[in-house]
Amino acid sequence: MTEPTIRTGTPNDFTRMVAHFDLVFGEAPNDEGLDNFKQWLEFDRVILAEDAGELVGTAGANSYRVTVPGGDTVAAAGLTIVAVRPTHRRSGLLRRMMRRHLEDVRDRGEAASMLYASESSIYGRFGYGSAAPSGEISLQRSHGAFRRDIPAARGTYRLLDLAAADAIMRQIHPLATAGVPGALVLREPDWVRRMVDYPSRREGHTPWRVLIYDRDGEPRGYARYRQKDGWGDGGPEGTVAVRDVQALDGEAFVALWRFLLDIDLSMTIAATHRPVPDPLRLLLADPRRLVEKSSDGLWVRPLDVPALLAARRYRVPGSVVIEVSDEFFEAGGRYQLEGGPDGATCEPTAAAAEISLGVEQLGAVYLGGQALDDLAWVGLIQGDAAAIRRANDMFSWPITPHNTLHF
Ligand SMILES: CC(C)(COP(=O)(O)OP(=O)(O)OC[C@H]1O[C@@H](n2cnc3c(N)ncnc32)[C@H](O)[C@@H]1OP(=O)(O)O)[C@@H](O)C(=O)NCCC(=O)NCCS
Repeated sequence: MTEPTIRTGTPNDFTRMVAHFDLVFGEAPNDEGLDNFKQWLEFDRVILAEDAGELVGTAGANSYRVTVPGGDTVAAAGLTIVAVRPTHRRSGLLRRMMRRHLEDVRDRGEAASMLYASESSIYGRFGYGSAAPSGEISLQRSHGAFRRDIPAARGTYRLLDLAAADAIMRQIHPLATAGVPGALVLREPDWVRRMVDYPSRREGHTPWRVLIYDRDGEPRGYARYRQKDGWGDGGPEGTVAVRDVQALDGEAFVALWRFLLDIDLSMTIAATHRPVPDPLRLLLADPRRLVEKSSDGLWVRPLDVPALLAARRYRVPGSVVIEVSDEFFEAGGRYQLEGGPDGATCEPTAAAAEISLGVEQLGAVYLGGQALDDLAWVGLIQGDAAAIRRANDMFSWPITPHNTLHF
């Protein structure tokens, strides 16, 4: 085997890329949605590896902004379409493409790279840490009763199809996710992909429906769901599959779930891309019946450590000298971090390090969901006990990190 060459992709490569994805991911070819997929890719960020003219490796990135603790957003690349042809696997091709991707992120001045992983064993070595877990839940409708002390909703419901709900979803989504660490700002091509509903991908479900909850004449939240009918010996056994619940306040959250958990003829309600833990648990009279499964979700790979650390807020004021090591790229260094609820600074320093951690661990704790002292407890972060405790309190954050845009 010769050494594959690596170059930037162009839209002309798209057809070959699709055949490559079908091969690598083991998917049956499906033409539906390819136009939108093409528009969704940023070709000047697509990396292609070729061996004797054959496409053998792909990686790409989208230019996102991600919300950090405190509510600001920073520029961060969303790594996607990583695929190496089975004939060329484990020969270092991903390693080469990762290096090129991180160089591109650095050259563009983005603070971090992010991804969703097909397998959780792959990306730690490249400096990515799991930062915002993603949950899946399911509940039997027969166990969907709320606690009696949950206040009743005062508003009203509407059901729309996707196209009719477009403007409301675009209005609610950024407001509902503002301040949620890990939430991405959707680009226009992300909206376009979210708003299409390909029959071949429904797996027997209805088209998406959008439930709107209004109060005082204003939309306060929406939920996107679809149904699948089913009949058993005892009667109806339908399923409700929920994909996106966005609420501007707790009352709207309660109202949307009250509706979703009590749709006639349904037996099972399932939802994906949920925060972990799911606040739905708080509403249920019998919360143990809620089956929750969690996965590693959004991974963060710090690139510009001082910019990243200065961009977020810290739960309690404090100061700590952090030594960051980076075995794969060049984001390491020693930094003096001063931060609190109102802002932060982060500068290179020659002072002695109080805490040492890898860039992967920094990625994991950055959004405030992964406790720093748990990583220290198992030996993945080093430092004296007082500094670890101080940094733990600074980095923790009261809002659960969560993102619903799988890229
Ligand atoms: C995952 C994939 C991209 C790896 O590509 P590759 O070119 O074989 O990876 P490399 O040879 O550069 O391996 C780099 C390192 O990652 C490790 N690695 C690669 N794939 C791995 C996997 N699936 N699980 C665990 N470790 C893995 C290698 O062992 C190697 O480790 P080392 O540096 O300690 O020696 C490739 O196997 C693939 O395309 N898989 C199917 C599609 C997929 O899962 N894509 C990822 C989407 S997020």
